[in-house]
Order: sequence, then structure tokens, then C-alpha cells
Amino acid sequence: MEEIAPYVFTMMAMLLGFFIYFYAPYWSIQKVPGPPALPLFGHLHLLAKHGTDVFTVLANRYGPVFRFHLGRQPLVIVADPELCKEVGIKKFKSICNRSLPSPISASPLHQKGLFFTRDSRWSAMRNSIISLYQPSHLASLIPTMQAYIDSATKLITANEEEDITFSDLSLKLATNVIGQAAFGVNFGLLRDTIAEEEVSAFMKEHLYSTNSLKMDLSGSFSIILGLIIPILQEPFRQILKRIRGTADWKIEKTNQKLSLRLDKIVAKRAQENERGSKDFLSAILNVSDSDGTLRDLFSQDYISALAYEHLLAGSATTSFTLSSLLYLVSMHADVEKKLIEEIDSFGPLDTTPSANDLQRKFPYLDQVIKETMRFYTVSPLVARETSEQVEVGGYVLPKGTWVWIAIGVLAKDPKHFPDPDVFRPERFDPACDEEKQRHPYAHIPFGIGPRACVGQKFALQEIKLSVINLYRRYIFRHSPKMEYPLEFQYGLVLNFKNGVKLQAIERKT
Ligand code: HEM
Repeated sequence: MEEIAPYVFTMMAMLLGFFIYFYAPYWSIQKVPGPPALPLFGHLHLLAKHGTDVFTVLANRYGPVFRFHLGRQPLVIVADPELCKEVGIKKFKSICNRSLPSPISASPLHQKGLFFTRDSRWSAMRNSIISLYQPSHLASLIPTMQAYIDSATKLITANEEEDITFSDLSLKLATNVIGQAAFGVNFGLLRDTIAEEEVSAFMKEHLYSTNSLKMDLSGSFSIILGLIIPILQEPFRQILKRIRGTADWKIEKTNQKLSLRLDKIVAKRAQENERGSKDFLSAILNVSDSDGTLRDLFSQDYISALAYEHLLAGSATTSFTLSSLLYLVSMHADVEKKLIEEIDSFGPLDTTPSANDLQRKFPYLDQVIKETMRFYTVSPLVARETSEQVEVGGYVLPKGTWVWIAIGVLAKDPKHFPDPDVFRPERFDPACDEEKQRHPYAHIPFGIGPRACVGQKFALQEIKLSVINLYRRYIFRHSPKMEYPLEFQYGLVLNFKNGVKLQAIERKT
């Protein structure tokens, strides 16, 4: 008996350690209501069953603050505009960072951009780049945006008789625009010819790297482990990245190649004497050249990550919104008619609207975009993490709690949007009662507070210019191959499972 006692003791200590490891995060927020969680998987099975609707289901059952367990990791979800204001604005000092999801925690390239940097580094970085999003700089980007939109429109002409997978075309358009604006590089994705070898390799690596950022159980083995037993993620990743053929090996290799390529672009631009300041990369190099303190902040790896992040954050989101808009407008003849009347009344076909025109002369287009973003919210959850103990919605949350704002639940809440499943842009008409009575933070597709999307105005300018150009020449109808209802897949942001397939009909003018 005495001989086995140490083993029994060790086993019991391990079991206790295991138990504490799994249940400690839960204990700290156990007062927050939520459904019973499965050991290891938490509520991941509910995510598989309902998709992101799971948060609406749980908000209806448990109220506007509830728990959701992403494997071992508990999230406190808030789904009420006043609580969003509390988390995103009023208590920003205590909740200023984003939590690091498991697909990102293994990738320095993704961690060093604005999205995941923390505290004073984040504020210094954000303050240094914010001037690039001021109206005067955005206005100077109109000719670049217009040129790429013209190229995309020409590709539609070439395919007039056939189906167009518009979501692919709009992704190429958005990537080209942000590629030029961020790197000053023409990715050439809208040319008939194949893009230069370097650029097309870059794009392949970028798409692979982005698509591997999965938030469900379809990621690499180490990412899945990160969702379930985070402590094992890094050791397993270190082993698996050395085993040829595993998803972890492929992700590691691709991210290495991508980083090298980005570093080369940055190094080359850094050596240029006359680099100008039109694109983001040049502007940030100019800033760091002129200020010694910023030189330390913007080391080459951070500059690469920031520029790359723009490509990542600014392409899929913008293209998803543009494709959703065409998909929805093609199903609503009354909306289409009103939109086209507004666009036609602006002026002759060859007049490019200025940034000022885009802001003031297309009020109905504004409403159509808002309603599209409400109807299909590309980023249905916004992540935050407490940096000290703080009270949210009456619950005391310890330091390190993941608090996520459920933008997607708000967008479909009948309290703020009566008949939420009806596509009705007029609900955003500033003169209508629904708009006047709605809580100001019920519709926040670009997030909230000091950490809200830095590219909001950039994205809206691009989407408006694209819609105006497209509807000046075409109307769109769903292809017979288009599924109904639309199916989605979930990465870091929402995406279409099978694409948006449309037919373009040239307008008689
Ligand atoms: C329709 C298009 C877009 C949507 C719906 C969108 C949505 C969002 C959302 C929801 C956030 C999180 C905000 C929060 O935590 O409160 C965010 C952050 C961010 N977005 Fe966007 N975005 C779009 C386009 C863009 C573009 C074009 C760029 C770059 C030019 C961009 C760059 C960023 C960056 C850098 C952040 C992190 C900001 C920070 O942490 O300080 N986004 N975006």
C-alpha cells in the first residue's frame, strides 16, 4: 500500500490541477447566467448547431448579459445598446484591449497590427496613423478607387451574358483598392492577364493565411487545441509545425513566406528617398523617419504587420458588404428603383462624385448601406478583454475576462428594428420615427468607442463609389444557381459559403 501511495497522490494532484485549470475561468464569472457547458467543449456544440444565431437564441433565453464558453474559455456576451456603451465607451479605461483568439495567438504577423496590440503601444500606434483617415487624405484616394472600379465594371461587360460570381469580383476590387492605398502596390487582380508572379504568390499566401484563421472546430490541430485546452496550443504547435504535411506546418511555412515578402516590400520602400505619402506604408515610414520616439515603436516587423493588417481588415469586410448590397437590392424592386433614381439624378455618367458629394448627395444610398450592414453583419461580434476588475451590467468581472459585444444580436432585435427580417432601408431615414426613437448604439457595424474601426470612412467611400458606378451601367438579378437563403461560413469575419452569383443586365440610357 505504501508503495502505491505516491502514485495515487500524484494522480490526485494531477486530477485536481486538471479540474482547477478547467473550472477556474468559469468560477470567476459563474454569477453571469448561461446554459450548462459540456466538459472541454463548453458551448461549441451550440455554435455548430445554430451558427452565429446562437447568440440571439441565448440572449432571448438569458437576457442581455450571458455566458458563452468557447471550449474552456468563457466569454461574457453583452447584447444591449446601453451595455455596449458601458463596455465600449464608459468603461474603456478598464476594457481597452481585444482578447486574443486562438488562431491569432500563434501568429506574430497578425498580432503586431493595430487590432491586437495593447495599452500604450496601441494608443501610440493609432494616434500616429489616424491622420491617414482624415477627410482630406480620403478625398485624395478617389481617383485610385475610381480607376479600379472602372476596371471591375469592364470585367462585368465582358461577362454580360453569363453568371458573375460577384463576391469574387468584389473581393478582387477591394483587395486592389486597399493594396494600392496600403502598400502602393498594384495587385493587378482585375487584369485579364495573370498578375505578375511575385504578386500572385503573395495573394495566394495571403488568402491561405487568412482562410486558416478559423474560429470553430475546422482549424489546424493546434488552433482547435487552443480553443479547448489553450495551455497545450503552443507546445503542440511547436511540434506540429515541424511535421511536414500537417496544417500547422503549412500555416507556419505560408506565414513565414508572407512575412518575408512583406519585409522585402517595407525594406525597399524604406530606402526610397522620394517615396511620397499617398499610400499608408510610405506615410508611416515618413512618420517614423521624422520622429525618434516613433522609430522605436514602428520597427520593421510592426510596420509590415500594420500594412498587412490593412489588407486583411479592409478587403473581406468591404467586399462582403458590397456583395450583400447587390444581392439584397436585386430582390427588392422598389429599393432598386429609388436607388437608381437618386444615382441618375446626380449628373452625367462620366462625372465622378467627389468625397463631399458622396457624403451629402446620396442620402438614400446611405440608408441602403446601413440596412445592408444591419441585415448581414460582417463582424457580428466585437472582442474586448478587461485589464482590471470592473463591473458590467451589474456583474463584477475579474481582470482578464473576455467581454464580447454582440453587434449581430442588436441588429436583429425587434425592440430597435421592428420586423427585423424585412429589408427596409427607409427605417434609417433620419425623418422617420423608427430612426428618431432608436438607441444611438443599436446599429454599430463598425464597432464602438475609441477602438472602433479606423477604416470606416475609407470603406464607406469605396462602397458608395462602387454602387454608384455599378448601377449607372447595370441592374442585377440573381443567377438561377444562387441558393436561397444565403449560406455563410465563419472565420474572423463572416463570409459567403458559395458566393453571390448574379447576372448583370446593361441599362438602356
Ligand atoms: C465594411 C467594411 C468594414 C467593416 C464592417 C469593419 C468592421 C470593423 C469592426 C467591427 C472593428 C472592431 C471595432 C471595435 O472593436 O469596436 C474593426 C476594427 C478595425 N478595422 Fe474595420 N471594418 C471595415 C473596413 C475596414 C477597412 C477598409 C480598414 C482599413 C483601411 C479597416 C481597418 C480596421 C482596423 C485597423 C481595426 C482595428 C482598430 C483598433 O483596434 O484600433 N476596416 N473594423
